[in-house]
Amino acid sequence: MRLQNKVALITGSARGMGRAAAELFAREGASIILTDIAEQEGIEAAQSIQAAGGKAIFVPANVAAAKDVQHLVETGISTFGAIDILYNNAGIMPAADTSVIDTSEETWDHIMAVNLKSTFLCCKYTLPYMVKQQHGSIINISSMVVFLGSTVPQEAYGVSKGGLLALTKSLAVQYGPAGIRCNAICPGPINTGLLDHLWTSEEERNRRLTRIPLGRFGLINDIIYFALYLASDESSWTTGTWMTIDGGISSNYF
Ligand SMILES: NC(=O)c1ccc[n+]([C@@H]2O[C@H](COP(=O)([O-])OP(=O)(O)OC[C@H]3O[C@@H](n4cnc5c(N)ncnc54)[C@H](O)[C@@H]3O)[C@@H](O)[C@H]2O)c1
Repeated sequence: MRLQNKVALITGSARGMGRAAAELFAREGASIILTDIAEQEGIEAAQSIQAAGGKAIFVPANVAAAKDVQHLVETGISTFGAIDILYNNAGIMPAADTSVIDTSEETWDHIMAVNLKSTFLCCKYTLPYMVKQQHGSIINISSMVVFLGSTVPQEAYGVSKGGLLALTKSLAVQYGPAGIRCNAICPGPINTGLLDHLWTSEEERNRRLTRIPLGRFGLINDIIYFALYLASDESSWTTGTWMTIDGGISSNYF
Protein backbone atom coordinates (compact mmCIF):
# COMPACT_ATOMS: atom_id res chain seq x y z
CA MET A 1 0.00 0.00 0.00
CA ARG A 2 1.29 3.43 -0.98
CA LEU A 3 0.27 5.38 2.16
CA GLN A 4 0.82 2.78 4.89
CA ASN A 5 1.08 4.34 8.38
CA LYS A 6 0.36 7.86 7.14
CA VAL A 7 -2.32 10.23 8.38
CA ALA A 8 -4.10 12.51 5.88
CA LEU A 9 -6.24 15.54 6.62
CA ILE A 10 -8.48 16.20 3.61
CA THR A 11 -10.68 19.32 3.53
CA GLY A 12 -14.01 19.36 1.70
CA SER A 13 -14.14 15.58 1.92
CA ALA A 14 -17.90 15.06 2.30
CA ARG A 15 -18.44 15.20 -1.46
CA GLY A 16 -16.79 15.26 -4.87
CA MET A 17 -13.06 14.90 -5.32
CA GLY A 18 -12.31 15.28 -1.60
CA ARG A 19 -14.50 12.34 -0.68
CA ALA A 20 -13.09 10.17 -3.47
CA ALA A 21 -9.55 11.06 -2.36
CA ALA A 22 -10.40 10.14 1.23
CA GLU A 23 -11.64 6.73 0.08
CA LEU A 24 -8.63 6.15 -2.18
CA PHE A 25 -6.08 7.23 0.46
CA ALA A 26 -7.79 4.97 3.04
CA ARG A 27 -7.58 2.01 0.65
CA GLU A 28 -3.86 2.79 0.32
CA GLY A 29 -3.41 2.47 4.08
CA ALA A 30 -3.74 6.05 5.38
CA SER A 31 -5.82 7.08 8.39
CA ILE A 32 -8.12 9.89 7.28
CA ILE A 33 -9.30 13.06 9.00
CA LEU A 34 -12.30 14.15 6.95
CA THR A 35 -13.73 17.63 7.32
CA ASP A 36 -16.48 19.65 5.68
CA ILE A 37 -19.37 22.01 6.42
CA ALA A 38 -21.73 19.30 5.08
CA GLU A 39 -22.00 17.36 8.34
CA GLN A 40 -24.36 14.52 7.45
CA GLU A 41 -22.52 13.61 4.25
CA GLY A 42 -19.18 13.92 6.06
CA ILE A 43 -20.27 11.50 8.77
CA GLU A 44 -21.51 9.07 6.11
CA ALA A 45 -18.21 9.34 4.20
CA ALA A 46 -16.20 8.49 7.34
CA GLN A 47 -18.56 5.62 8.18
CA SER A 48 -18.25 4.15 4.70
CA ILE A 49 -14.43 4.17 5.01
CA GLN A 50 -14.68 2.47 8.41
CA ALA A 51 -17.15 -0.10 7.02
CA ALA A 52 -14.60 -0.96 4.33
CA GLY A 53 -11.97 -1.62 7.03
CA GLY A 54 -10.25 1.78 6.94
CA LYS A 55 -9.50 4.28 9.69
CA ALA A 56 -11.34 7.61 9.53
CA ILE A 57 -12.89 10.35 11.62
CA PHE A 58 -15.09 13.22 10.54
CA VAL A 59 -14.61 16.63 12.19
CA PRO A 60 -17.12 19.28 11.08
CA ALA A 61 -15.39 22.57 10.27
CA ASN A 62 -15.72 25.70 8.23
CA VAL A 63 -12.17 25.84 6.90
CA ALA A 64 -12.44 29.62 6.49
CA ALA A 65 -12.76 30.04 10.28
CA ALA A 66 -9.57 29.96 12.39
CA LYS A 67 -11.23 28.49 15.49
CA ASP A 68 -12.74 25.62 13.50
CA VAL A 69 -9.42 24.84 11.82
CA GLN A 70 -7.49 24.92 15.09
CA HIS A 71 -10.00 22.49 16.61
CA LEU A 72 -9.88 20.30 13.49
CA VAL A 73 -6.08 19.98 13.56
CA GLU A 74 -5.96 19.38 17.33
CA THR A 75 -8.67 16.69 17.07
CA GLY A 76 -6.80 15.00 14.23
CA ILE A 77 -3.53 15.02 16.15
CA SER A 78 -5.09 13.74 19.37
CA THR A 79 -6.85 10.93 17.46
CA PHE A 80 -4.07 9.72 15.17
CA GLY A 81 -0.90 11.28 16.65
CA ALA A 82 0.31 13.01 13.48
CA ILE A 83 -0.69 14.68 10.22
CA ASP A 84 1.59 13.54 7.39
CA ILE A 85 -0.53 14.77 4.48
CA LEU A 86 -2.52 18.00 4.34
CA TYR A 87 -4.80 18.02 1.28
CA ASN A 88 -6.32 21.49 0.86
CA ASN A 89 -9.25 20.60 -1.36
CA ALA A 90 -12.31 22.52 -0.07
CA GLY A 91 -13.46 25.14 -2.53
CA ILE A 92 -16.45 26.96 -3.97
CA MET A 93 -17.37 28.45 -7.33
CA PRO A 94 -20.54 30.51 -6.84
CA ALA A 95 -22.54 31.64 -9.88
CA ALA A 96 -22.45 35.20 -8.46
CA ASP A 97 -18.69 35.37 -9.26
CA THR A 98 -18.49 37.07 -12.65
CA SER A 99 -16.63 40.19 -13.87
CA VAL A 100 -15.04 42.76 -11.56
CA ILE A 101 -17.87 45.15 -12.40
CA ASP A 102 -20.69 42.76 -11.55
CA THR A 103 -19.22 40.79 -8.62
CA SER A 104 -20.24 42.09 -5.19
CA GLU A 105 -17.68 42.74 -2.46
CA GLU A 106 -19.38 40.07 -0.30
CA THR A 107 -19.04 37.44 -3.04
CA TRP A 108 -15.37 38.35 -3.57
CA ASP A 109 -14.58 38.15 0.16
CA HIS A 110 -16.46 34.88 0.61
CA ILE A 111 -14.61 33.18 -2.25
CA MET A 112 -11.24 34.42 -1.00
CA ALA A 113 -12.06 33.13 2.49
CA VAL A 114 -13.16 29.64 1.44
CA ASN A 115 -10.68 29.07 -1.41
CA LEU A 116 -7.55 30.87 -0.20
CA LYS A 117 -7.67 31.86 3.48
CA SER A 118 -8.73 28.27 4.29
CA THR A 119 -5.41 26.97 3.00
CA PHE A 120 -3.50 29.64 4.93
CA LEU A 121 -5.34 28.53 8.09
CA CYS A 122 -4.92 24.79 7.55
CA CYS A 123 -1.20 25.29 6.89
CA LYS A 124 -0.86 27.68 9.84
CA TYR A 125 -2.16 25.10 12.31
CA THR A 126 -0.73 21.93 10.72
CA LEU A 127 2.80 23.09 9.86
CA PRO A 128 4.07 23.30 13.48
CA TYR A 129 3.31 19.56 13.85
CA MET A 130 4.93 18.77 10.49
CA VAL A 131 8.03 20.77 11.46
CA LYS A 132 8.24 18.84 14.73
CA GLN A 133 8.04 15.47 12.96
CA GLN A 134 10.38 16.77 10.16
CA HIS A 135 8.25 15.56 7.29
CA GLY A 136 4.95 16.24 5.55
CA SER A 137 3.27 16.64 2.18
CA ILE A 138 0.92 19.55 1.49
CA ILE A 139 -1.29 19.35 -1.61
CA ASN A 140 -3.16 22.48 -2.71
CA ILE A 141 -6.01 22.23 -5.21
CA SER A 142 -5.73 25.16 -7.59
CA SER A 143 -7.25 25.25 -11.10
CA MET A 144 -6.21 25.53 -14.74
CA VAL A 145 -8.19 28.80 -14.89
CA VAL A 146 -5.16 30.56 -13.37
CA PHE A 147 -3.36 30.21 -16.71
CA LEU A 148 -6.06 31.56 -19.02
CA GLY A 149 -8.43 34.45 -19.33
CA SER A 150 -12.02 33.69 -20.23
CA THR A 151 -14.90 35.44 -21.98
CA VAL A 152 -17.05 33.97 -19.18
CA PRO A 153 -15.18 35.50 -16.22
CA GLN A 154 -14.99 34.13 -12.69
CA GLU A 155 -12.57 36.71 -11.37
CA ALA A 156 -12.57 35.90 -7.65
CA TYR A 157 -12.31 32.16 -8.26
CA GLY A 158 -9.33 32.56 -10.60
CA VAL A 159 -7.53 34.99 -8.30
CA SER A 160 -8.08 32.77 -5.25
CA LYS A 161 -6.66 29.79 -7.12
CA GLY A 162 -3.70 31.87 -8.36
CA GLY A 163 -2.96 32.84 -4.77
CA LEU A 164 -2.71 29.14 -3.93
CA LEU A 165 0.12 28.72 -6.44
CA ALA A 166 2.05 31.60 -4.87
CA LEU A 167 1.57 30.08 -1.42
CA THR A 168 2.63 26.66 -2.73
CA LYS A 169 5.98 28.03 -3.95
CA SER A 170 6.65 30.01 -0.80
CA LEU A 171 5.85 27.15 1.60
CA ALA A 172 7.98 24.73 -0.44
CA VAL A 173 10.98 27.03 -0.10
CA GLN A 174 10.48 27.86 3.58
CA TYR A 175 9.75 24.35 4.81
CA GLY A 176 11.77 22.17 2.41
CA PRO A 177 14.69 22.14 4.87
CA ALA A 178 12.29 20.68 7.46
CA GLY A 179 11.41 17.82 5.10
CA ILE A 180 8.03 19.27 4.15
CA ARG A 181 6.93 19.30 0.52
CA CYS A 182 4.23 21.53 -0.94
CA ASN A 183 2.73 21.07 -4.41
CA ALA A 184 -0.43 22.00 -6.28
CA ILE A 185 -2.76 20.43 -8.81
CA CYS A 186 -4.52 22.56 -11.44
CA PRO A 187 -7.51 20.60 -12.72
CA GLY A 188 -9.63 21.43 -15.75
CA PRO A 189 -13.40 20.83 -15.66
CA ILE A 190 -14.19 17.67 -13.68
CA ASN A 191 -17.62 16.15 -13.44
CA THR A 192 -18.63 17.08 -9.85
CA GLY A 193 -21.44 19.13 -8.30
CA LEU A 194 -19.18 22.20 -8.28
CA LEU A 195 -19.84 22.86 -11.96
CA ASP A 196 -23.59 22.16 -12.01
CA HIS A 197 -24.49 25.80 -12.49
CA LEU A 198 -22.24 26.07 -15.55
CA TRP A 199 -23.91 23.19 -17.38
CA THR A 200 -27.17 24.98 -18.00
CA SER A 201 -27.61 23.59 -21.54
CA GLU A 202 -26.12 21.21 -24.08
CA GLU A 203 -24.79 24.29 -25.89
CA GLU A 204 -22.92 25.42 -22.75
CA ARG A 205 -21.39 21.94 -22.32
CA ASN A 206 -20.35 21.73 -25.95
CA ARG A 207 -18.82 25.20 -25.90
CA ARG A 208 -16.34 23.87 -23.34
CA LEU A 209 -16.03 20.36 -24.75
CA THR A 210 -14.78 21.62 -28.12
CA ARG A 211 -11.80 23.22 -26.32
CA ILE A 212 -10.56 19.88 -24.93
CA PRO A 213 -8.04 18.09 -27.18
CA LEU A 214 -8.64 14.78 -25.39
CA GLY A 215 -12.35 15.07 -26.20
CA ARG A 216 -13.96 14.59 -22.79
CA PHE A 217 -14.42 16.28 -19.44
CA GLY A 218 -12.24 15.11 -16.57
CA LEU A 219 -13.05 12.30 -14.19
CA ILE A 220 -12.41 12.43 -10.46
CA ASN A 221 -9.80 9.67 -10.80
CA ASP A 222 -7.82 11.81 -13.27
CA ILE A 223 -7.04 14.11 -10.35
CA ILE A 224 -6.93 12.01 -7.21
CA TYR A 225 -4.39 9.48 -8.51
CA PHE A 226 -1.96 12.35 -9.07
CA ALA A 227 -2.74 13.55 -5.54
CA LEU A 228 -1.93 10.03 -4.34
CA TYR A 229 1.51 10.31 -5.96
CA LEU A 230 2.11 13.67 -4.25
CA ALA A 231 0.94 12.28 -0.91
CA SER A 232 3.20 9.23 -1.12
CA ASP A 233 6.96 8.94 -0.68
CA GLU A 234 7.20 8.26 -4.45
CA SER A 235 7.28 12.06 -4.87
CA SER A 236 9.91 12.64 -2.19
CA TRP A 237 11.95 14.98 -4.46
CA THR A 238 8.96 16.89 -5.81
CA THR A 239 8.19 20.24 -4.25
CA GLY A 240 7.22 23.80 -5.15
CA THR A 241 5.56 22.78 -8.38
CA TRP A 242 2.18 21.98 -9.90
CA MET A 243 0.61 19.63 -12.39
CA THR A 244 -2.04 20.87 -14.80
CA ILE A 245 -4.50 18.06 -15.53
CA ASP A 246 -7.00 19.44 -18.03
CA GLY A 247 -7.19 17.19 -21.08
CA GLY A 248 -4.97 19.70 -22.89
CA ILE A 249 -7.28 22.75 -22.65
CA SER A 250 -4.59 25.16 -21.50
CA SER A 251 -2.35 24.17 -24.45
CA ASN A 252 -5.09 24.91 -26.97
CA TYR A 253 -4.76 28.18 -28.85
CA PHE A 254 -7.40 27.34 -31.53
N1 LIG B 1 -14.79 20.25 -10.40
C1 LIG B 1 -13.95 20.94 -11.16
O1 LIG B 1 -14.12 21.07 -12.36
C2 LIG B 1 -12.75 21.62 -10.55
C3 LIG B 1 -11.78 22.16 -11.42
C4 LIG B 1 -10.67 22.78 -10.86
C5 LIG B 1 -10.52 22.86 -9.50
N2 LIG B 1 -11.51 22.33 -8.69
C6 LIG B 1 -11.31 22.43 -7.24
O2 LIG B 1 -11.33 21.15 -6.67
C7 LIG B 1 -11.75 21.22 -5.32
C8 LIG B 1 -12.84 20.20 -5.05
O3 LIG B 1 -13.95 20.53 -5.86
P1 LIG B 1 -15.10 19.50 -6.27
O4 LIG B 1 -15.23 19.62 -7.74
O5 LIG B 1 -14.87 18.17 -5.67
O6 LIG B 1 -16.35 20.25 -5.63
P2 LIG B 1 -17.51 19.78 -4.64
O7 LIG B 1 -18.44 20.93 -4.56
O8 LIG B 1 -18.04 18.45 -5.07
O9 LIG B 1 -16.73 19.59 -3.26
C9 LIG B 1 -16.25 20.67 -2.50
C10 LIG B 1 -16.45 20.36 -1.03
O10 LIG B 1 -15.96 21.47 -0.26
C11 LIG B 1 -16.88 21.68 0.82
N3 LIG B 1 -16.79 23.05 1.31
C12 LIG B 1 -17.23 24.18 0.73
N4 LIG B 1 -17.03 25.23 1.54
C13 LIG B 1 -16.45 24.76 2.67
C14 LIG B 1 -16.01 25.36 3.88
N5 LIG B 1 -16.14 26.68 4.09
N6 LIG B 1 -15.47 24.57 4.84
C15 LIG B 1 -15.35 23.23 4.64
N7 LIG B 1 -15.75 22.61 3.52
C16 LIG B 1 -16.30 23.37 2.55
C17 LIG B 1 -18.24 21.40 0.19
O11 LIG B 1 -19.25 21.18 1.18
C18 LIG B 1 -17.94 20.17 -0.65
O12 LIG B 1 -18.11 18.97 0.07
C19 LIG B 1 -12.20 22.68 -5.12
O13 LIG B 1 -11.18 23.42 -4.49
C20 LIG B 1 -12.41 23.18 -6.54
O14 LIG B 1 -12.27 24.58 -6.64
C21 LIG B 1 -12.59 21.71 -9.19
